[in-house]
Amino acid sequence: RKKLKLGLFGFGCVGQGLYHVLNETHGSVQAEIKKVCVKNKTKERPVNDNFFTFDKDEILNNPEIDVVVELIDDARAAYEIVKTALLNGKAVITANKRMLAEHLQEIYTLQQQTGLPVLYEGAVCGSIPILRNLEEYYDNDLLNSIEGIFNGSTNYILTKVFEEKKSYADALKKAQELGFAESDPSLDVKGYDPKYKLVIAIAHTFGLFVNPEDVINIGIDKISDQDLKFARDNGYFIKLIARSFRIQDKVYGFVAPQFVEATNPLASVRNEYNAVQVQGAFAEKQLFIGKGAGSYPTGSAVLSDISALSYDYAYEYKKFHQADRFEFSNDLIVDA
Ligand code: HSE
Repeated sequence: RKKLKLGLFGFGCVGQGLYHVLNETHGSVQAEIKKVCVKNKTKERPVNDNFFTFDKDEILNNPEIDVVVELIDDARAAYEIVKTALLNGKAVITANKRMLAEHLQEIYTLQQQTGLPVLYEGAVCGSIPILRNLEEYYDNDLLNSIEGIFNGSTNYILTKVFEEKKSYADALKKAQELGFAESDPSLDVKGYDPKYKLVIAIAHTFGLFVNPEDVINIGIDKISDQDLKFARDNGYFIKLIARSFRIQDKVYGFVAPQFVEATNPLASVRNEYNAVQVQGAFAEKQLFIGKGAGSYPTGSAVLSDISALSYDYAYEYKKFHQADRFEFSNDLIVDA
């Protein structure tokens, strides 16, 4: 087991979370952060200054660094960093769901070309270890569906508004203060963020690369007062559900708010918690619940990737080899 030398891009909510959880492991995870590349030159930072650089080449061209950990906000810049890192011989860990959803096929091809791994457990549902499960555990089981609550901010807002009768604006503000929301919170509220996560999950569930533009997303901003009243009057909860399922050779997927019966386990998933329910052809349903947003939970998912890399783990993308088996369809009027 080797000791990894890390170059970190970004020191926001997740970057700082990673920094702290890595320190808390007291050396049990074999990794050391060598440099952190940040954008803002004037921001006060709680860590020694010479740790930071503003020049990405100090990481990307640094022969001492063997893993690039990409935790920035800007998806386009993130893709360039990931691509250059791989072409420069460095393994990559990223939590950038938008970048991954938009470039998964290219990143997969780059991995094949360079023989270097890219891990991204922190990109999908925060602390829930769903990607490695989809990759490893469900290898031989034909999965029929994956669904759940894939966004912490909106689940937090729905909990506050629906169950605790707080105002929407206050709940959103609090979700931002707690570090759950995206820097552009409309990505959460309009259902883009859970859609990016769903696109990544679809790749690891069905081996399909889906263009995010082909997946319908309806956000919690579309929930009306009548919807809230209807739910309350009839004993339903409202949850923002991301869902993908297979009918014969067609795979469907969407994100939308749904009425959920009180007996459905998703109804009791509150605040920034996420849930992922998978259904196998023979195993029936399994449900994973965990914190889907926040500095330490997401930092710990990134840490799990660092640990996995120190054991030479890489996704094998077993289902990708059968990518022509299924076809994505956004025609949601289906004869079930
Ligand atoms: N904004 C995201 C969420 C952060 O609320 O789930 C975690 O990906």
